[in-house]
Amino acid sequence: MIELKNLSKIYKVGKGKNFTETQALNNINLTIEDGESVAIQGKSGAGKSTLLNILGILDSYNSGNYFIDGEEVKKLSDKKAAKLRNEKIGFVLQDFSLIDSKSVAMNVMLPLFFCGCKHNVMYEKAEKALELVDIKDQINKKTYQLSGGQRQRVAIARAIVNNPSIILADEPTGALDKETSKQIMDLLLKLNETEKITLIVVTHDDDVAKCCKRRIEISDGNIKKSDS
Ligand SMILES: Nc1ncnc2c1ncn2[C@@H]1O[C@H](COP(=O)(O)OP(=O)(O)OP(=O)(O)O)[C@@H](O)[C@H]1O
Ligand SMILES: [Mg+2]
Repeated sequence: MIELKNLSKIYKVGKGKNFTETQALNNINLTIEDGESVAIQGKSGAGKSTLLNILGILDSYNSGNYFIDGEEVKKLSDKKAAKLRNEKIGFVLQDFSLIDSKSVAMNVMLPLFFCGCKHNVMYEKAEKALELVDIKDQINKKTYQLSGGQRQRVAIARAIVNNPSIILADEPTGALDKETSKQIMDLLLKLNETEKITLIVVTHDDDVAKCCKRRIEISDGNIKKSDS
């Protein structure tokens, strides 16, 4: 379970007297239960990516509390935070963030290099993840040899290879056409339903948001509307 209590994030840019502050998140209170599917919407600059990065323990916050399964993120050492991130969270981004010069298999195995597993164990896990996203037949290709939709499937395989309990996706369909977007959302929802992975998707696309059971709107760093 994810719990945010009065969480605020202020970005400070510049030094001395010449700094500017941006209140990116303002007293956010939000609880997301295990297995939910949640869409986060809002205008550009509203704070969506900031929220997702904090949820993914990629960024810090200034005040308030963030608990994952009862553990307060702020109180964890860097090492423990990295472990929690690696074990519980998978990321999917708009631009796929794949390494083009490497094979599909290598890209998917990437999060496993920190677990100290043997190569054949990592490879088997990658195969399994690629099978779940219906793209195992592409395992030996380089990622630049794939279509946009296939690339996003590889990115999703990489996100789930560690069996995370949460997938965080920032505009996962932003670079895809309507039909491919629908396929990628169907796939994410299938993982949400069959693997019980909590799904949190930032999107500008109403059709994508409608696929999620719950929709949250952020405006100027505040939760404006949460329909649950
Ligand atoms: N690293 C940073 N340093 C300073 N300010 C930042 C930083 N990242 C984001 N901001 C500011 O914080 C606010 C929220 O940004 P954020 O990226 O969370 O918006 P967003 O809702 O994801 O927008 P978009 O839909 O355009 O991706 C914006 O005013 C932005 O300029
Ligand atoms: Mg963003």
